[in-house]
Formats: sequence, C-alpha cells, structure tokens
Amino acid sequence: MPHRPYEIDVMISAKAIAARIEDLAREIGREFADTDKLVVVGLLRGSFVFIADLVRELDMPVEVDFLEASSYGDGMESSREVRILKDLRGQIEGRDVLVVEDIVDTGHTLKHVTEFLQTRNPAKMRCIALLDKPARREVDFKADLIGFEIPDEFVVGYGIDFAQRNRNLPFIGKVRFTDPA
Ligand code: PRP
Repeated sequence: MPHRPYEIDVMISAKAIAARIEDLAREIGREFADTDKLVVVGLLRGSFVFIADLVRELDMPVEVDFLEASSYGDGMESSREVRILKDLRGQIEGRDVLVVEDIVDTGHTLKHVTEFLQTRNPAKMRCIALLDKPARREVDFKADLIGFEIPDEFVVGYGIDFAQRNRNLPFIGKVRFTDPA
C-alpha cells in the first residue's frame, strides 16, 4: 500500500519513558502491596514494549498474560464495536489484576476490555496506560494510572504502530507528513 511520506519527531524520549516507568512501578507496588502474585495483562499488540519494561521494574511476584481485542479499523469506525480476539490463558477470578495498555484514545477498547474482565470477578482490577489522549475520548473511561497525557497528535513507537510500522522505535514519536497534501 502506498504511503504518504512522513518523518518522525521525538515526543517522549526513551530516557523520559524509563524514568516515568520507575515512578509508575512504585505506585503499583503501593497499590498492590498486599497482593501475593499480581496478574499483569497486556493488550496486544501495542502494549508489548511497555509491559516488558514495566514488569521488570515491579518488585513483586507477577504472572504475565495477554489479551487481544479487535481493532475496529476503517470498516468498524461507526459502530465502535470491540471484540475479544484472543482471551487470557489464565484465570483471574479472585485475583488482583493490572491491565496494561499503550494508549487510551477514544476509550472504547479499554472500557470494553475492563467490563469484559470484570465479569470474571477479579478481587481487584486496575488499569495503566502509558499514554492518554483525553481530547479524543468518546466514552467515559479513565485509566487508574497514566504515564503521560498527550495532545491529539499522531504518535508511533514504543509498541505503537502506523500501519504496522515503527513499533520498534525506542521512544514515542510524532508523525509529521512531509508531502504537500
Ligand atoms: C490501539 C491501541 C489501543 C487502542 C486505543 O490498538 O493499542 O489498544 O487502539 O484506542 P481506543 O481508545 O480508541 O479504543 P490497535 O487497535 O491499533 O491495535 P494494536 O494494539 O494491535 O496496534
């Protein structure tokens, strides 16, 4: 598929992300101080970099699991329907759970996923998102912990893609289109 040409400017450096993750890990440690073994649930695919760095800063026993929700993409834009494509491997009933997401945009994905997981009766569930774009919100949802609040910019990197590119950038970048359009 042809692409509009673009360049990427650094919005949040790898160093700034690492420093923020240390703070977030401390907050999670306090929030789950009484937890035996925390179930850390990453939402595929975007969260894979964040969850990898985050769990390595957590000073507590953790279990890592993944869930994949459908991207509503172009065709589903109007319905905002979110479907579960890949379920958890483990049980969460009666467990303490931390849901890890890369970005909250309209809020549909995390709202749906947390409602879905809540039906399994976890003892306690909290959500963490590295990035929050409140200007784009369409539903009433706020993550319990947020790394950075960002303006309504097109961001990539640190797990986040643009048409499946740029997930491997070590920083959060802002897309700048370079064609005259
Ligand atoms: C992105 C992102 C979040 C979701 C946020 O995922 O990773 O999961 O969209 O958007 P929302 O708040 O408007 O629901 P995407 O569907 O692009 O899939 P990916 O994680 O596989 O990149």
